[in-house]
Amino acid sequence: MAASAPRTVLVTGGAGFIGTHASVELLNAGDTVVVFDNLCNSSIKSLAAVQRVTNRGLNFVEGDLRDAASLQDVFDRYPIDAVLHFGGLKAVGESVEKPLLYYDNNVSGTLNLVSAMAAHQVKTLVFSSSATVYGDPDQVPITESAPTRATNAYGRSKLMIEEMLRDLYAADPQWRISVLRYFNPVGAHASGELGEDPCGAPNNLLPYIAQVAIGRLPYLRVFGNDYPTDDGTGVRDYVHVVDLARGHLAALKYLDTGPQFAVHNLGTGQGYSVMEAIRAFETAADKPIPFKVVARRDGDIAACYADTSKALRELGWQASMNLAQMCRDAWHWQSRHPNGFG
Ligand code: NAD
Ligand code: UFG
Repeated sequence: MAASAPRTVLVTGGAGFIGTHASVELLNAGDTVVVFDNLCNSSIKSLAAVQRVTNRGLNFVEGDLRDAASLQDVFDRYPIDAVLHFGGLKAVGESVEKPLLYYDNNVSGTLNLVSAMAAHQVKTLVFSSSATVYGDPDQVPITESAPTRATNAYGRSKLMIEEMLRDLYAADPQWRISVLRYFNPVGAHASGELGEDPCGAPNNLLPYIAQVAIGRLPYLRVFGNDYPTDDGTGVRDYVHVVDLARGHLAALKYLDTGPQFAVHNLGTGQGYSVMEAIRAFETAADKPIPFKVVARRDGDIAACYADTSKALRELGWQASMNLAQMCRDAWHWQSRHPNGFG
């Protein structure tokens, strides 16, 4: 396939975990990147790392998606061709405690973004959705046509945004909208310069294991070993963040083919249990990971993994890296940067 012409891409949330990796891929492809982020869950040092590993510059605007005027200003200042929209809050527990914060930040923020896009005739958007919109699935692997039923405010904010974008496309079919439902993004850039740097104790399995391995946390709590899975622990579809980042370039290329509203799962299609993840990380770090089995975590489901055939068929994208590589890169990042971006 011929390479796309260089674009100017606005990357909201571009200082965060997935946004930095996507910015690396865009810069490597020759695109110009404008990051828009309020740094509420990220460090500006991540953007220096993006520039180091690509040897390319990027533009950074510190701003909040809830501030409509600052978004309008970005579109006035830069000739944006397309938007990758990562900006948002993502902590499930916090969303249950502070639902209005999540609806304001995620839903109102997206409303401001698409309003600014419409006002500037920028109609190409890739949106970061989540497998959380499937809730507890009736069957696995999960296809894009499975029923959606989020079980918390975070998930509902994603569903509301999906619905808003669907309505937008119905009203104005010139839009090119790609909704990507990520499964469990993990790993780090192979350079060891970029990776996940959660604020406080991590909620997610892989960053938690990594912090146990580096000695920041004493042991992992395995949330339940009585699920109806092979070893009783929860099964998830972990996908390398660099593979995921490349999925966004594939989505942009797909949108080049014409106006549409499209939904794709991004995962590997392979489920791994918590115990398998622990073992893979022990191999990568060459040290034991202490753990204790505790009660199930509220709201967790037994198994969740993607049917990835639609992404392969339509985007020509599939994940290339396995769990061993995800753990290797996560450990490389964590061991080089024990305190993340510091
Ligand atoms: P992240 O927290 O590392 O990155 C999100 C970025 O958005 C942060 O840099 C944060 O500062 C910024 N941000 C948040 N609210 C903002 C606002 N109002 N204005 C401007 N910037 C704002 O998270 P991530 O893991 O990189 O996730 C990126 C996107 O992917 C999010 O929308 C998330 O919901 C979605 N997603 C993530 C996962 C996951 O497990 N990491 C899974 C599915 C979907
Ligand atoms: N787990 C533990 N101990 C921990 C953390 C997690 O045993 O300390 C287990 C969980 O019970 C689950 C598995 O590890 O079985 C994965 O848990 P994560 O928290 O890493 O991921 P989830 O699948 O629960 O949720 C993640 C994001 C959600 C997103 C969902 C689908 O946190 O926001 O993936 O994309 F919606």
